[in-house]
Amino acid sequence: MEVTHFFEMNSAKKPIGIFDSGIGGLTVFKEIRKILPGENLIYFGDTARVPYGNKSKETIIRYSKEITRFLVGSKVKMIVVACNTASSMALRTLRKEFELPVFGVIGPGAMSAYKKSNGGPVAVIGTAATIQSRAYSLAINNLNKTGEHIEIIEQACPLLVPLVEEGWVYSDVTAEVVRRYLKPVIEKKPSCLILGCTHYPIIKKLIVKEIGKTAVIIDSGKEVALELKRFLTKNNMLNKSGVKAAEHFFVSDAPEKFKILGENFLGKKIRNVKVIRDFFMIL
Ligand code: DGL
Repeated sequence: MEVTHFFEMNSAKKPIGIFDSGIGGLTVFKEIRKILPGENLIYFGDTARVPYGNKSKETIIRYSKEITRFLVGSKVKMIVVACNTASSMALRTLRKEFELPVFGVIGPGAMSAYKKSNGGPVAVIGTAATIQSRAYSLAINNLNKTGEHIEIIEQACPLLVPLVEEGWVYSDVTAEVVRRYLKPVIEKKPSCLILGCTHYPIIKKLIVKEIGKTAVIIDSGKEVALELKRFLTKNNMLNKSGVKAAEHFFVSDAPEKFKILGENFLGKKIRNVKVIRDFFMIL
C-alpha cells in the first residue's frame, strides 16, 4: 500500500470511515472514540443486508467494496472494517483495490492473542463465516515464527448475534446458549479467548462468567483502535485541530431501529443518522 503517496494528498482533519454489516460495529466505534477522542468519525451500518455472518465470501466482498466506495466518496482518510466477518472475507481485496489505508479487526485481535497466549491454546468465537474462513487461525500462525505449535480452538456461535440484537443480554436463554457454545472450548483450557464478533463485547460478562478468569479475553475492537492510534501517530495523521470531533452515522435501512439499538451498543445518544438506500448507486 502506498501510504506515503496517499498521505501527501491527505489531511489529518478528514474523518475515519468505519463500517459494519449493521449495528455491531458500534462496539468498535466506541473503542475508537475512547482511544482517539479528536478524530472525526463516519460510520456506515449496512442494516438493509445484515447479517453478513451467514453469507458467501463473494457477496461479502461485493457489499464491502460498495460501502468502501461510499466512504471514499465521503472523503475519509482511512477505512476501518469494524466487522469480523467482512474483515475475514474482504480485507485483502479492499487493500488491493483501494488506495487509502484499510484496517480490519482480525490482525490486531490475532496479534494481541499471540502475545498474551503464552503458547497456550487460543480460543476464537465468531460467526459461522468468520470461523469457516479460519482468518484468526491463519493470522496467528503467520505471526508464530518460532515454529512451535499453537493450538487454536474455533467455535461458531451463530445464535448470539440475534439474541444480542433482540436485547436479550441478561437473559437465562442467552446464558444457556453461551454455556453450550463454550463447553467444548472450556474443555481445552484456553489461555485466551478472542471475541471474534462485534456483538460479543455486549455479553462479555456472561462469557467471562462461563470461561472463568484464567483465560484472557481479547476484544478485537479495542485492539484495532490501539493499532489505529499507533498508525496515526507514526504518520503524523492525528487530528489535532482541537475542534470538537464530529460523528455521522449512515445506514442502508431502518434508521430508527439503528438509533434505538445502537444507543445500547454505544452507551450514548446517537444523532445524525441518515438512511441511504441504494447508496451503491450514488457514486
Ligand atoms: N458484525 C458481524 C461480525 O462481527 C456480526 C453480525 C453479522 O453477522 O453481520 O462478524
